[in-house]
Amino acid sequence: MRADGRPGRRRDWAVTLVVVAALGLGAWAYLTSRGDDSGALWSRLPGGTDVAPATDARYLSECGDCHFAYQPGLLPARGWDRIMATLDDHFGDNAELDPEARTAITEYLIQNAADTSHLRRPAQIVRSIPARDTPLRISEVPYIKDAHKDIPARLVTGNAKVESASHCDACHVQADKGYYNDSNVVIPGHGKWTD
Ligand code: HEC
Ligand code: HEC
Repeated sequence: MRADGRPGRRRDWAVTLVVVAALGLGAWAYLTSRGDDSGALWSRLPGGTDVAPATDARYLSECGDCHFAYQPGLLPARGWDRIMATLDDHFGDNAELDPEARTAITEYLIQNAADTSHLRRPAQIVRSIPARDTPLRISEVPYIKDAHKDIPARLVTGNAKVESASHCDACHVQADKGYYNDSNVVIPGHGKWTD
C-alpha cells in the first residue's frame, strides 16, 4: 500500500501472475485429464492417460492372474460380453469364474468399455472395428494392429522376453496406468523405441 491507499504496481503484477498461473494450471489439468493424444504438447506431459486405468479389485485379481489386466477401455462392450460368456474356453485355457463374480466383472467391463469412454484412444479402437465384428483380442483390433505394424516380429513373437503381442506391459512400461504413448516404450532386449 502506498500513502494514497492504492496498491502499488508491483502488487498488481503479482495478482496478475497468480491469476495467469492458476488459469494455466487449470487448462493443463483439463487437457491431461482428457488424455488427448493427437501429438500435441499436452499428450507428452506426464499424467496424460490414454485409457482409464483398471480399478476394480475383483477384476484385477481374477483377470490379472495369468496376464496383464487389460483396461476395460481397450475393447468395446460386445467383445467383453463374448469373452465373459466363453470363459470355459478362453484362448485354450479354462478361466471360469463362479456366476456371481462373473456377473460383477462383466458389469464392470461393460460399464467401462471402449464405447463408453470419452478418451481418444478408446474412440479410435471403436472406430476401427467394423460393426459386424466382435473382437476377442485387443491385439487383433485394427487400430492396435496398425499401431504395431512397423515392429519386426523378431522383437515380439520371436523375443523370449515378450513372446506375444498380447503382453502389452512387456513393452509399454506404464501400461498399468493406462499410458500407451509411443514415447514411453522399451522393448526388452532391444531398448527404448524411437521411430
Ligand atoms: C487361466 C489363465 C487365465 C485367466 C484366469 C484369464 N485369462 Fe485371459 N488369457 C489367457 C491366455 C492364455 C490368453 C492368450 C494369451 C496369448 O495369446 O498370448 C488370454 C488372452 C486374453 C485376452 C486377449 C489378449 C489379446 O491378445 O489382446 C483378453 C482380452 C483376456 N484374456 C481377458 C481376460 C479376462 C477378462 C479375464 C478374467 C475374467 C481373463 N482374461 C482371465 C489366460 C487367462
Ligand atoms: C513388443 C512390444 C510391444 C507390445 C507387446 C505391445 N506394444 Fe504397443 N507399441 C509398441 C511400440 C514400439 C509402439 C510404437 C510403434 C511405432 O511408433 O511405430 C506401440 C504403439 C502402441 C500404441 C499407439 C501409441 C501412439 O503413441 O500412437 C498403442 C495404443 C499401443 N501400442 C497399445 C498396446 C496394447 C493395448 C498392447 C497389448 C494388447 C500393446 N500395445 C502391446 C510396442 C509394443
